[in-house]
Amino acid sequence: MADHVPVTKAVVPAAGLGTRFLPATKATPKEMLPIVDKPAIQYVVEEAVSAGLDDILLITGRGKRPIEDHFDRAYELEEALRAKEDPERLGSVRESAELADVHYVRQGEPKGLGHAVYCARRHVGDEPFAVLLGDDLIDERDALLQRMLEVRETYGGSVVALMEVEPEQVSLYGCAAIEPTDEDDVVRVTDLVEKPVPGEAPSRWIIIGRYVCDPAVFDVLEKTPPGRGGEIQLTDALLTLAKRDRSEGGPVHGVLFRGRRYDTGNKLDYLRTVVQFAADRPELADEFLPWLREFVAKHDEAGR
Ligand code: G1P
Repeated sequence: MADHVPVTKAVVPAAGLGTRFLPATKATPKEMLPIVDKPAIQYVVEEAVSAGLDDILLITGRGKRPIEDHFDRAYELEEALRAKEDPERLGSVRESAELADVHYVRQGEPKGLGHAVYCARRHVGDEPFAVLLGDDLIDERDALLQRMLEVRETYGGSVVALMEVEPEQVSLYGCAAIEPTDEDDVVRVTDLVEKPVPGEAPSRWIIIGRYVCDPAVFDVLEKTPPGRGGEIQLTDALLTLAKRDRSEGGPVHGVLFRGRRYDTGNKLDYLRTVVQFAADRPELADEFLPWLREFVAKHDEAGR
């Protein structure tokens, strides 16, 4: 029944503890860490909105209130900026509040990504929906999510975004065994392994944090036992759906993504992402890039 229902909702899990960024994330959600001057989570919500999904459900937990404040109006701040006649900053403050219809549900217990997605069941109902993980940012010039929605429209079932990585990277992700279809950038997913042990990965194609899920995933998640790391894994639920046909909520297809993805989930990639985003901002790049070149040259000279 849900087969021809259009996708209108996006689920964004944001309940993680952010331990990789302690102590910065002791009192600040990791999703609020800025990429230049915008919190990472705003880029994710903007991506969903530009794919036409403006009903956003954030899965949050303890200590995540700053995220709610960010997507809300900030009356006093707006008044102050109005009094200062600073329309540009006023616009930037209002923008995040007007972006989308943002809803929240709390996960309560850290039982894994599959459990976080399961928390969306009541809000989503019997409709297909997108899942966007905040650690991955997709360049706004690469319309990955739109393409995934088209693939869902054509094939039904669920869709994951896949990217080819070096073999030593595979065990950090969910990995897919794939078969070609008639379309160059679309594959049928035949197997999925969450964080395979090195040497046992079915391919070099890993799941990046974008999914379009058939609502059948909820019934499956309800019965999915804890997997890798003792957590309920979305990957495991999708494997169950990959083995089903369209009448039962399957199958699973992959969109092969060859565009620009930025990782913000660990310190080194976060730094790279900030530099890349700064280099794309003309008002910063004009001064920042010459400085960066000089800094690196001096650093090399000093042999450090
Ligand atoms: C999660 C998923 C994994 C996926 C990854 C993408 O892992 O479980 O399958 O490849 O996101 O970023 P996590 O990074 O939460 O450990």
